[in-house]
Amino acid sequence: MKRVITYGTYDVLHFGHINLLKRAKALGDYLIVGISTDEFNSVKGKKAYYMYEQRKSIIENLRFVDLVIPENSWAQKPNDIQKYQADIFVMGNDWEGKFDELEELCEVIYLPRTEGVSSTQTKNYINSF
Ligand code: CTP
Repeated sequence: MKRVITYGTYDVLHFGHINLLKRAKALGDYLIVGISTDEFNSVKGKKAYYMYEQRKSIIENLRFVDLVIPENSWAQKPNDIQKYQADIFVMGNDWEGKFDELEELCEVIYLPRTEGVSSTQTKNYINSF
C-alpha cells in the first residue's frame, strides 16, 4: 500500500484544491492531508475564513481523502512522514524546491497548480461587494 502525504490551509475549498488532492491520491492508495491549524496560520501570517475544525470536516469528507491530521509547525513533516509511513510527499509547485530535504525520507513531488484560482482570490472577490 502506497501512502501519500500533503499539507495546506484548504480554506474556502475550490477546484484547485480538488485537482491537487485527486492527483495526490492517484499517486498511491492512501492519502493523508495535514491541515494548518488556526495557530499555525497565525505563525504563517495567514487568516482562514473557516476555523480548523470546519476545514478539517470538509476535507475529511472528500472521498479520495483517507486521513486528516493537524499541521502545527514547519518542523513536523519529517516526523509525520515516519509516523504515517508516507512513501510520497506532495505539494503544489508554488512550493517547488522548498521541501527537497525530505527526499532523504520519501519521494517528493511538486504538482502543477491549477491556474486562475486561489482561496485569497475568492475571498477578495466576495469582499469586493
Ligand atoms: N493549490 C493548487 N492550485 C491552486 C491553489 C492551490 O494546486 N490554484 C494547491 C497548493 O499548491 C497546495 C494546496 O492546494 O498544495 C493547498 O493550498 P492552499 O494554500 O490551502 O490554497 P490557496 O488557494 O493557494 O490558498 P491561499 O490563497 O490562501 O494561498
